[in-house]
Amino acid sequence: MALFTRLYLLLMAVRVALSLDKQTEYTECDGGWQWNNYSPVQEEERCTVERRDASITYSEFIEKYAYKRPVIIQGITDNSEFQSLCRKEQLIRTYGDCSVRLSTANTYSYEKVDVPFQEYVEHYLRPQDLDSLGVDTLYFFGDNNFTEWGSLFQKYTPPPFKLPGTTGAYSFGIAGSGTGVPFHWHGPGYSEVIYGRKRWFLYPPDKTPEFNPNRTTLSWMLETYPLLPAAERPVECTIRPGEVLYFPDRWWHATLNLDTSVFISTFLG
Ligand SMILES: *[C@@H]1O[C@H](CO)[C@@H](O)[C@H](O)[C@H]1NC(C)=O
Ligand SMILES: *[C@@H]1O[C@H](CO)[C@@H](O)[C@H](O)[C@H]1NC(C)=O
Repeated sequence: MALFTRLYLLLMAVRVALSLDKQTEYTECDGGWQWNNYSPVQEEERCTVERRDASITYSEFIEKYAYKRPVIIQGITDNSEFQSLCRKEQLIRTYGDCSVRLSTANTYSYEKVDVPFQEYVEHYLRPQDLDSLGVDTLYFFGDNNFTEWGSLFQKYTPPPFKLPGTTGAYSFGIAGSGTGVPFHWHGPGYSEVIYGRKRWFLYPPDKTPEFNPNRTTLSWMLETYPLLPAAERPVECTIRPGEVLYFPDRWWHATLNLDTSVFISTFLG
């Protein structure tokens, strides 16, 4: 064989080895959820939610944020074991036959469908379709069966700061990139992503955002958001694994999963 051919084959072998290596690494850090993923949307240009590290004290949390504004706290809990239980293969192996209740983010038609978890992952879990931006995508967020999935939720460590007189209720879900819940509000709580990134848009209770409840957050972001004057822009930020976002009572919020995301919220009520 000519030297050139041999060098070429060697180079190809090295490239294949390198790319296999990279794939394994990627699969491990994303729990296997981002395989062949594409992200139709980006992170914000500037995060306008305060980010604090684990040195924040409970009294500081209560004084500065609990009743006033959202905050992102980094590294306040270690959920690495829970994260490992949420790897794609692991969840399918353990809960593949358990049913999950899917719903649309639609405010008007509360369509609900029960399917086995494995079927959800294989047939429903996909990026938001850019051609149909109505809120009719069925996905798994909340509506959890705490009997069947109890052993999983036991392994989750919620953020340690509680509000006086409240208890926490979990809401767990998995959804494709570009999906998300349109603007709405309710009581205070926390949101954490176990895998993937979730972009948040928030407005204080007295500032009702302009949005069409029949359209997805993605359509709002593509059509309305770019036209907002500076004073009408939301408070916004993208959270990643290892961070938890706190939202106060009655703050408007909409979410957008930038990647296929595994997420859990703790509602304080
Ligand atoms: C949760 O799962 C259990 C066991 O399969 C079932 O009996 C129960 O009806 C389910 N609960 C709800 C609220 O779907
Ligand atoms: C959303 O859809 C519902 C039901 O079809 C309709 O009654 C309502 O007027 C729509 N809202 C907007 C803002 O388009």
